[in-house]
Amino acid sequence: MTPVEILRDGGVVGMPTETVYGLAASIRSEKGLREIFHIKNRPFFDPLIVHISSISQLSEVVLEVSERMKFLAAHFWPGPLTMVVEKNPQLNPLITAGLSSVGVRMPRNNCALRLIEELGHPVAAPSANRFGRVSPTTADHVRTEFPDAKFPIIDGGSSEVGVESTVIDLTQKKIRILRPGAIDSVRLERTLEESAFADSLPLKRVESEASPGHLKNHYQPESPLVLVDSDKSVSDEVIRKKLDLSESIEAISLELGDDPQLYARRMYSDLRELSAPHRFLIVRKLPHQTGPQWEAIWDRLSRAASLLI
Ligand code: TXA
Ligand code: MG
Repeated sequence: MTPVEILRDGGVVGMPTETVYGLAASIRSEKGLREIFHIKNRPFFDPLIVHISSISQLSEVVLEVSERMKFLAAHFWPGPLTMVVEKNPQLNPLITAGLSSVGVRMPRNNCALRLIEELGHPVAAPSANRFGRVSPTTADHVRTEFPDAKFPIIDGGSSEVGVESTVIDLTQKKIRILRPGAIDSVRLERTLEESAFADSLPLKRVESEASPGHLKNHYQPESPLVLVDSDKSVSDEVIRKKLDLSESIEAISLELGDDPQLYARRMYSDLRELSAPHRFLIVRKLPHQTGPQWEAIWDRLSRAASLLI
């Protein structure tokens, strides 16, 4: 069966997107949606993002397309911006974890767009990793996450962006950032400032309650990761003691470089590929590695870390 036939038949498909690989099922298939939660071992309280290939598909997903949503879609879609809005009451509650809102985006990836287009309606897709683990940015990563699963994975090469979409909540007058991501808050602010929707500002960053899946201890690599803030200085030895690791466990330092976009592209592969049973990983933040473009990277690394110093 082709990937589209599998989706129609209530199966799941590994789907590349510009951010990370997703595990897609048709939003019309209860069986497919259940399969996502089962394969990922994901709790049902964590809602899925709906992926569309054309604006006309929004009517099946959301209650109403506001002017503000149209404006943001025109600026950022296809692209890594997920908008949380009131859902269409007909939408399967598995997708939204019983919430009255739904997260939706149009990915900027031709394989994904073609798949959805051919299916003729949207898919729901979380990142294609086991719950709580590092997100996949290649087809190989997806295969390694689920070695025994039988679903097909569309190989679209390495993800162009490498970090997940920015999730914003549009259910209130002031826009709230539920998860920092590929589109940084300053870009969003600049776009809104010069628009008819300037009253959506200032953007508010809110913690997990509104985005149940965005937990601490998410994105965890196989080896323990330690994050050292730029104003702290600690030796590998001290860290080893804090983590209660024996001397045979090797310390690996991760270099992030100067360019947040370049680093985002390799962040998740580095966390996977540098992990090994006899190692622990250290990221020492440098003073210049701050600012809006680093937001998503520090968010993910601090959730992935087992120790913050
Ligand atoms: O870039 C991405 O967004 C990737 C690719 C595959 O599109 N997807 C992704 O999905 O990261 P996932 O399931 O790993 O993360 C989705 C996040 C979760 O933190 C979830 O809680 C939040 O979006 N979310 C989804 N619907 C929501 C809603 N109605 N209200 C609040 N948060 C929501
Ligand atoms: Mg995820």
